[in-house]
Amino acid sequence: MRYLAAFLLLIAAAQAQPAFRLRSPGGTVSLLVEQDAAGTVRYSLAYRGQPAIRPSALGFRLSKPQVHLDRFDLAGADSSQYDETWTPVWGEVQQIRNHYNELTVRLKDRSAYGIEIRVVFRLFDDGAGFRYEFPEQPGLRHFIVAEELTEFAMSGDHKAFWIPGDYDSNEYLYNITPLSQIEALEAAARERDIAVTAPIGPSAVQTPLTMKSASGLYLTLHEAALINYPAMNLVLDKADLRFRAHLVPDAVGHAAYLQTPARTPWRTLTAGSQAADLLASKLILNLNEPSAIGPADWARPQKFVGMWWEMHIGKADWQLAGGKHGANTANVMRYIDFAAEHGFDGVLVEGWNTGWEDWFGNWKEEVFDFVTPYPDYDIDSLAAYARRKGVRLIMHHETSGSVTNYERRIDTACRYMQRYGMNTVKTGYVGRIIPRGEHHDGQWMVNHYVRTAAKMAEYQIMLDAHEPVRPTGLHRTYPNWMASEAARGSEFHNAPTLGMSPEHTTILPFTRMMGGPMDFTPGFFHLRLNQFDSTRTTRVRTTLAKQLALYVTMYSPLQMVPDLPENYRRYPDAFQFIVEVPVDWADTRILEAEPGDYISIARQEKGGRNWYIGAITDENSRTAVLNLDFLPEGARCEAVIYRDAPDAHWDTRPEAYMIERRRVSRKTRLEIPLAAGGGCAVQLRVE
Ligand code: NOJ
Ligand code: CA
Repeated sequence: MRYLAAFLLLIAAAQAQPAFRLRSPGGTVSLLVEQDAAGTVRYSLAYRGQPAIRPSALGFRLSKPQVHLDRFDLAGADSSQYDETWTPVWGEVQQIRNHYNELTVRLKDRSAYGIEIRVVFRLFDDGAGFRYEFPEQPGLRHFIVAEELTEFAMSGDHKAFWIPGDYDSNEYLYNITPLSQIEALEAAARERDIAVTAPIGPSAVQTPLTMKSASGLYLTLHEAALINYPAMNLVLDKADLRFRAHLVPDAVGHAAYLQTPARTPWRTLTAGSQAADLLASKLILNLNEPSAIGPADWARPQKFVGMWWEMHIGKADWQLAGGKHGANTANVMRYIDFAAEHGFDGVLVEGWNTGWEDWFGNWKEEVFDFVTPYPDYDIDSLAAYARRKGVRLIMHHETSGSVTNYERRIDTACRYMQRYGMNTVKTGYVGRIIPRGEHHDGQWMVNHYVRTAAKMAEYQIMLDAHEPVRPTGLHRTYPNWMASEAARGSEFHNAPTLGMSPEHTTILPFTRMMGGPMDFTPGFFHLRLNQFDSTRTTRVRTTLAKQLALYVTMYSPLQMVPDLPENYRRYPDAFQFIVEVPVDWADTRILEAEPGDYISIARQEKGGRNWYIGAITDENSRTAVLNLDFLPEGARCEAVIYRDAPDAHWDTRPEAYMIERRRVSRKTRLEIPLAAGGGCAVQLRVE
């Protein structure tokens, strides 16, 4: 609940200019807001006494009215405290505490317009968020943001985990360099396999941007609650190690069209003295609003198989023409049988509908209608067959970037899903966007993704978005928006140029996944991808055991079981882990973590007593040290350990694994060797 603060804002009497200070509830994070004689307002943040963000300016450039909002008079300030514990519909933990101190600074711009804005700061013990508000006021109703002038001045030349700033894609491999060595255009030029890119400039990067300071401070810059506003990229001034916000523009070069009362997304800093602190943080979720779609208890975590990987590895095609159509009735029936046999909830079917003959590269408005199956796909009998077998078909809406077309047809498409008992849809945005000139991450598209989540909720449909803007915690507000891709996912194992590096999955949880769950699709058992096309050299650069571990380390309430049934049948004992691993959790413990190197996570199933551990490493072998002190006192427990065989290696012997059973207790410390590019998955059966 919220109550007015009894604590004091220190208006520093000794200083010529006013300043406001605020601390987080436990005192770990502190904020200073200062104004200089010219009227510039700057904020700075410290974590456990160490500077995290040096004094950094706030403000905007508007193009309607044409004015810089960067010199202000202080009109006042208020503070409050908040402490509440809430229950997510699904998630990594059962309960989340939202505990912060808040400061609102009221500013009046010094131009003739005298525009009033507020900056609201929330300080948590693991970081801070702030956002701008434009209250209703006589001189400002409709206005256009040309630029946001928010700065984030770093306190050193930190090691950074970054991808190039881009208006259309987040499907890049990560780069690890000091801030001063960011070369984003060079990095973007190395990538040849992303459908559409629009890199911004040599020192532009995307958020979530994670950094490690020389003194061992871990920092992530991102945003929360991205609604009715473009995504924020960051442009670095290398001379001063100062980032400036860079908003994705629209077709005519503007950033955002707003109407008072308006507010921006939260600009966020997550901080910790250990890497594990970042993974445990709930700051982004807490800065989002509670569910806008009611209790949403129909939004259920699930595992699903799919008519999907066959197309990516060349066994089948999405299109009917050419004679290799994958989504034919008999083939999909085979997947329904496979799902039913192992208790999986759904079957994703791609390539079921007309349009795939000319879906890509034409920037064409009318491609798919989302309701017309190909003639060899008997949806009536397949829907009936799936129902009898207790599984559901999962819909695929590839828009090919033609979003105007999708919006015109979306209600009809939802009713069609309802008619066939489908309650989950995977959307996709491969291609240049229509309306032409808009970008994937601009305000228009940001509104589209949110509109789609809200629209699907009207039909009680769960959403998995591919190629959208990266998440900002909106799964709290739209619990049916279960997952997004919005990063380089498993399809890139098959990308010929760079593919996927063994370290990629040790970086994603610290970067992209700080904003929300990812439909990454772990779980490949056939790791060389020349099974149906001997000319391919592409491959999965992990061991098989690491593929199992990813079901725990890559959190998502939707987990795909993506490989072909015949590939799983070759390793039935390892497959058992995928059959049993849950997709909804009561509790989560980060056991070991270092971005770019390794992650070990333990999670307890919701509604049961068992725990599951995933431990992964990058291209270097290591020993995972798993302390089981989270197990209940006195509990008898059997550990089933799926690990790399002694000679396993992602390059030379990726499929070599072994399964061990051991008695363990809360006093046990498991030390498990992980191969280069390897991992281990553990099921802890608590008796
Ligand atoms: C890209 C998506 O990420 C992938 O999963 C899908 O199979 C293709 N587009 C085709 O829609
Ligand atoms: Ca994709």
